Amino acid sequence: MRKTMLKPETTIPGTNFQNKIYQGDCAEMLKSIADNSVDFIITSPPYANQRSKSYGGVKPNEYVEWFLPIAEQLKRVLTQDGSFILNIKEHVENGERHTYVLELILALRKMGWRWTEEYSWHKKNAFPGKWPNRFRDSFERCLHFNLDKSFYMDQDSVMVEMGDWKDKRFKYLTGNDLERHASQVGNSFAKNIANWEKRDKAYPSNVLSLATNCKNVGHPAAFPESLPSWFIKLFTRERGVVLDPFMGSGTTALSCIKLKRQFIGIEMSEEYVKLSCDKINKALGLTIKPKSKPKSRKKGECPHMAPLAP
Ligand SMILES: C[S@@+](CC[C@H](N)C(=O)[O-])C[C@H]1O[C@@H](n2cnc3c(N)ncnc32)[C@H](O)[C@@H]1O
Repeated sequence: MRKTMLKPETTIPGTNFQNKIYQGDCAEMLKSIADNSVDFIITSPPYANQRSKSYGGVKPNEYVEWFLPIAEQLKRVLTQDGSFILNIKEHVENGERHTYVLELILALRKMGWRWTEEYSWHKKNAFPGKWPNRFRDSFERCLHFNLDKSFYMDQDSVMVEMGDWKDKRFKYLTGNDLERHASQVGNSFAKNIANWEKRDKAYPSNVLSLATNCKNVGHPAAFPESLPSWFIKLFTRERGVVLDPFMGSGTTALSCIKLKRQFIGIEMSEEYVKLSCDKINKALGLTIKPKSKPKSRKKGECPHMAPLAP
């Protein structure tokens, strides 16, 4: 993709702003990106009241007000058939889930975004724990927004192997399974299971079971590369432009490089911008300058895992 070493940028030029990482506040930086120039946006913004020590937290009651000007810019830069995936999860406050994410969804709809779908990222390696009024939290929301009812989606790119399920299920096909028929529980869902008999692959569900990062990637809240990769394959063509306005440690850019997509990353922290550039240069096989030491983390600690309750 690039022939030259990637270095942090602090201003976004009028043209050729792809395949770069910009350091600054995305609310301001986004204003320099051209209209309709981004095919897909995926991001995990700071969650309200979380990690206020590492990179500043936004108060839950101010979250919608803080996010809306950013969403306005995202709407402007996204192509009409593009998608926006927002990875977020509300925390528990005073024994109940906060409602700021729900309020944000409603505010985004008012702005003109369509809330097409919600994917659930099931963290299959979440730590066990014990809480008095709930079980361990092992999923995050991946909210899918669009500007238009019709958008680019390559469903075949994320098909999954049927594996054992197919062998077991098709061994016992009954007459009912061989023709399209109304569901046995009386709803209007109709199926024709036999249609799938000769196929090795099926379409996935909206639940993604992906492990969290367990090795130190230099950022306390990085998502695993498998998360942006899945959505990038689904919602972009090769060479498509992918924007992550809260780029953190560069995970989205690394997915783009592997999948032959172009990236635009914005990140406020100088440390994480440098980390991203180092990782990208390494992935591209370019000579790298000595790396700054990644932040230390306690042995065995995994950023997305809930701590064990006493
Ligand atoms: C949840 S982390 C993103 C982690 C990223 N997905 C990864 O895999 O490394 C959110 C990031 O947003 C950055 N950030 C916070 N406010 C910002 C702003 N206004 N503009 C740009 N970046 C911001 C933080 O420094 C943090 O690195």
